[in-house]
Amino acid sequence: MFEHVEPFAGDPILSLNEDFQKDPRPGKINLSIGIYFDDAGKIPVLDSVRRAEQQVVARNAPKPYLPIEGAANFREQVQALLFGAGHEALAGKRVATIQSVGSSGGLKVGADFIARWLPGSEVWVSDPSWENHRSMFEGAGLAVHSYPYYDAATGALSFDAMCATLHTLRARSVVLIHACCHNPTGVDLTRAQWDTLIPLLAERDLLPYLDLAYQGFGDGIAEDAYAVRALAAARGKDGRPMSFVVANSFSKSMSLYGERCGALSVVCADAKEAVNVLGQLKFTVRRNYSSPPIHGGQLVAAVLGEPALRAAWEEELAAMRERIKAMRKVLHATLKAKMPARDFGYFLSQRGMFSYTGLNPQQVDRLREEFAVYLVRSGRLCIAGLNTGNVEATGLAMAAVLDG
Ligand code: LMR
Repeated sequence: MFEHVEPFAGDPILSLNEDFQKDPRPGKINLSIGIYFDDAGKIPVLDSVRRAEQQVVARNAPKPYLPIEGAANFREQVQALLFGAGHEALAGKRVATIQSVGSSGGLKVGADFIARWLPGSEVWVSDPSWENHRSMFEGAGLAVHSYPYYDAATGALSFDAMCATLHTLRARSVVLIHACCHNPTGVDLTRAQWDTLIPLLAERDLLPYLDLAYQGFGDGIAEDAYAVRALAAARGKDGRPMSFVVANSFSKSMSLYGERCGALSVVCADAKEAVNVLGQLKFTVRRNYSSPPIHGGQLVAAVLGEPALRAAWEEELAAMRERIKAMRKVLHATLKAKMPARDFGYFLSQRGMFSYTGLNPQQVDRLREEFAVYLVRSGRLCIAGLNTGNVEATGLAMAAVLDG
């Protein structure tokens, strides 16, 4: 029956993380997977989340099935976090939000929804993008292409080339864009660039699909939601409010990786559309996994909804963001001291967890084999895996492989 089943080639990120766990070398450094580690190299349990969890456990409440679309208080809190409380799109009830199994689960539900209701639409992802984007949308039966994004020569955004390509797309093409903290490059659009891009998307009748997995890791909660809020305020070609999709995650921002806690929101032109869209998202969920898990969403809803927990979380998130920025500076200084002729300024201008180092796969292999420093083979480095104990060793190892 299964003789013909082919072996799994492995996942470029998760399989590497498994290899790291098996590596017996002391002093090994994991800069592969997108996980925030604290300065002691541990995945933090945020105090705000721990306090929320104590409340949940103390209630000792039953664990019924959640509604297909998830818990109402979780969905409301997510909407306020994304759009800002009281946003016109929320007051007008034109946002259909479901609680999802991580933002990956949300991305896939959205992909299935598009495949069903916008059949024939092609999906365009940035070059490069998170390794799993293409795979997910292709898995939903959609054709996936890429638009120019990262300029390897300058380490910056190829904004003109990006816009030129988007200009040529067929109406109703889906354009997947990282709302902030681009994974894998760390290169983001500026506000001015979003303000140029959004009218282009509207005029060409394209469907923006935002991936917002790192809200708060770039410049702040509201700052990192700029694209969401600007799109929600925009008008489409027909003069009606613009439609778009956004998948967001609490894996990183609340350090809730294994709880698989995220959401998918589809912003519609009006409330009537949103009712139907929500219904079809529910149908998609019911046919896949029926309803989301309960625990993580309870923690998120409590942290976002209770002022004291919310304030504590915002401080903890800011501390994670600042620590990442501090590590960027140390890595930059270490490399600059070793190789003064080379420009490593991109470590300082890139935002969020990741930086594209420009290291080629052979150099990444050398880092892993000779120095036990793990990066994704694309050259992506997870800055959030650096700490005061390993950042210098990382910089020196990188300098050694860059030197040939
Ligand atoms: C990453 O990019 O490393 C993370 O988002 C984890 C994952 O699922 O790939």
